[in-house]
Amino acid sequence: MRVAGRLAAQVLEMIDEHIRPGVTTGELDRICHDFIVDEQRAVPAPLNYKGFPKSICTSVNYQVCHGIPGNKRLKKGDLLNIDITIIKDGYHGDTSKMFFVGEPSILARRLAKTTQEAMRVGIAQIRPGASLGDVGHAIQRFAEGKRYSVVQEYCGHGIGRAFHEEPQVLHYGKPGEGITLMPGMCFTVEPMVNAGKRHIKLLSDGWTVVTKDRSLSAQWEHTVLVTQDGHEILTLRGEEREKPPAPGAATGTC
Ligand code: MF3
Ligand code: CO
Ligand code: CO
Repeated sequence: MRVAGRLAAQVLEMIDEHIRPGVTTGELDRICHDFIVDEQRAVPAPLNYKGFPKSICTSVNYQVCHGIPGNKRLKKGDLLNIDITIIKDGYHGDTSKMFFVGEPSILARRLAKTTQEAMRVGIAQIRPGASLGDVGHAIQRFAEGKRYSVVQEYCGHGIGRAFHEEPQVLHYGKPGEGITLMPGMCFTVEPMVNAGKRHIKLLSDGWTVVTKDRSLSAQWEHTVLVTQDGHEILTLRGEEREKPPAPGAATGTC
């Protein structure tokens, strides 16, 4: 799982320099596909997963998740999520982050930052004896405290030999609810946060999820292992190691 997590994180690091106005999401998909297959000798998990046609998910602006890469050209000011899942030696690593195309609006920057902080306050709860409700509650309290809303129809998930395993990891809830965490468990934390209302709809392509009110949406995702004394983020990128969150940032206080 550590190897799979590291490879998934490296795809997000690799794709960064390719994100600029004029590039299509289909071109980003091809670059990631070739890197995963030819350099990492790994498998892009989304390709043909339940009929998904591409190797990565690209969700732009009011798209919440599961956007299908295609001929759409990115333009200055777009807010983009890229979600990478790879399989290495039978194990899955799943991670996503937000990118800005050119200069973002103040709202886009604040939404992306708040969503990343929401993911971090959720992950900060993870230790043996804590519950999944503690994780979901921390995320919801933080995001709603910033006057944003949390999508409820999609959640994090156990991960390992399968892409999506039990349990469901809700990004809302009450402290103490849900299963109790134990060392060795592996799951994702991947909150989707909307600038407007939480409601979503599915586009006719059968995959792309968008906000009903067409407000901007953001998502960040890590694959996390429960350890004896806390947790280990398996999909951490170099930028997160070099520049960890400032002390006191995103501790859950509003
Ligand atoms: N990577 C997504 C997740 O975090 C799932 C994508 S499924 C796909 O769970 F088929 F759209 F790729
Ligand atoms: Co996931
Ligand atoms: Co994912």
